[in-house]
Amino acid sequence: MARPLRIAVAGLGTVGGGVAKALRSRESELFARAGRPLEIAMIAARDRRKDRGFDHTDLPWADDLAALATGDADVVVELIGGESGPALRLVETALSNRKHVVTANKAMLAHHGARLATLAEKNGVALKFEAAAAGGIPIVKALRESLLAYGINAVRGILNGTCNYILTRMEATGAAFSDVLAEAQKLGYAEADPALDIGGGDTAHKLALLSALAFGVQPDFGSITVEGIDTITPEDIGFAKEFGYRIKLLGIARATAQGLDRRVQPTMVKLGTPLADVEGPFNAVVVHAGEAGPFVFEGRGAGEAPTTSAVIADIVDIARGSNGAVFGRAASALSRPVPAPVDARVSPYYLRFHALDQPGVLSEISGHLANAGISIGSMIQRGRAPGGTVVIVMITHECPEPAVRRALKVIEASDKVRGASRMIPMEAV
Ligand SMILES: NC(=O)c1ccc[n+]([C@@H]2O[C@H](COP(=O)([O-])OP(=O)(O)OC[C@H]3O[C@@H](n4cnc5c(N)ncnc54)[C@H](OP(=O)(O)O)[C@@H]3O)[C@@H](O)[C@H]2O)c1
Repeated sequence: MARPLRIAVAGLGTVGGGVAKALRSRESELFARAGRPLEIAMIAARDRRKDRGFDHTDLPWADDLAALATGDADVVVELIGGESGPALRLVETALSNRKHVVTANKAMLAHHGARLATLAEKNGVALKFEAAAAGGIPIVKALRESLLAYGINAVRGILNGTCNYILTRMEATGAAFSDVLAEAQKLGYAEADPALDIGGGDTAHKLALLSALAFGVQPDFGSITVEGIDTITPEDIGFAKEFGYRIKLLGIARATAQGLDRRVQPTMVKLGTPLADVEGPFNAVVVHAGEAGPFVFEGRGAGEAPTTSAVIADIVDIARGSNGAVFGRAASALSRPVPAPVDARVSPYYLRFHALDQPGVLSEISGHLANAGISIGSMIQRGRAPGGTVVIVMITHECPEPAVRRALKVIEASDKVRGASRMIPMEAV
């Protein structure tokens, strides 16, 4: 019989617990798929006595994480989490000791991925991370191994289930962002500290990994423009619907003639297109692969079973001997991403203002837009409030983002406009 693949599992929480349980309960099926037995060599977490919903008393327990990286395991599965600290130390030590590594840790890879890929390559071992981007969706494998022939023009995705759940519920109930966030926390769809999710940071971590795979750049997180969903109002969601759009938090990486345009931002996507129909905690990624066309991937982006499914796929790959380059090409061939100038961001924009209900206001706003070279496709003015404020919404024709920002600065300085305005790019595909 082929030699078993010996696996050390670090972290036994949502994902690690799922992986340990699956390795045991699906032993014979996974043996058949991997061509050799998959054997747990050692496990570790913080609290040995915690009930983890499965019996692990017969498995060797490591009190010191270093034991996983230096023992007789072939693969170390890092499911602790965190950008640095114990997870990073474990992965570095494991790779240096010629252990293959499987991880779901997007924060760590978005910050240290290029260096870790070099370390893995130098030691001739795999570093796999299917679960780190879009959970159970096999998007890492697709970008690394499948969609190669014609290159990639763009990757656009809903990569954070918490944000998608919140936006879906805001549309369904008309409730404010803060109320829906509180509900999501109660249901376990949002963390007690939701900043990384709702601020767009988690989406940016995943986008850094997907753009490294798609465009051959280092997974450099710093040059991604990031905007979260906390300023989205039920009013914007209602107007989006009236115009036939839905607001989604998208991670977008697009090749332009002047560089790579990478951003995370609330975007209006046209109803009836694949990303608009992704609801609740689901994730989806659209890959535009040159002449091969667009490909749509959709599924669960988080949770025990979807994430376990992705981690097990990586383990089985390693058992079969598939240890290809971490980001799909040699680490030394990954270039530093050259960010596209903001002028390269051209789209129609949704603009929303609160302005005094007075004659001349509309022509003043449209005049400032015209001065910036922006023409208006359609417009709604809602309500009548003599002496008070009304809501004005405009949809522009295609125009560059900097022109819109310039115009908004002038408009917001007007004594007829109240509070901050809102701009959201619109995507029709
Ligand atoms: N949850 C998801 O749906 C999901 C989806 C995609 C990716 N991920 C990624 O998967 C990773 C794990 O996430 P998770 O949700 O499974 O986290 P989790 O439920 O919080 O589990 C973390 C585990 O790490 C252990 N741990 C923490 N610090 C440790 C230390 N210093 N030494 C040893 N063990 C330590 C914890 O031990 P105790 O149990 O003893 O406290 C726990 O078992 C993260 O990188 C996350 O971003 C998660």
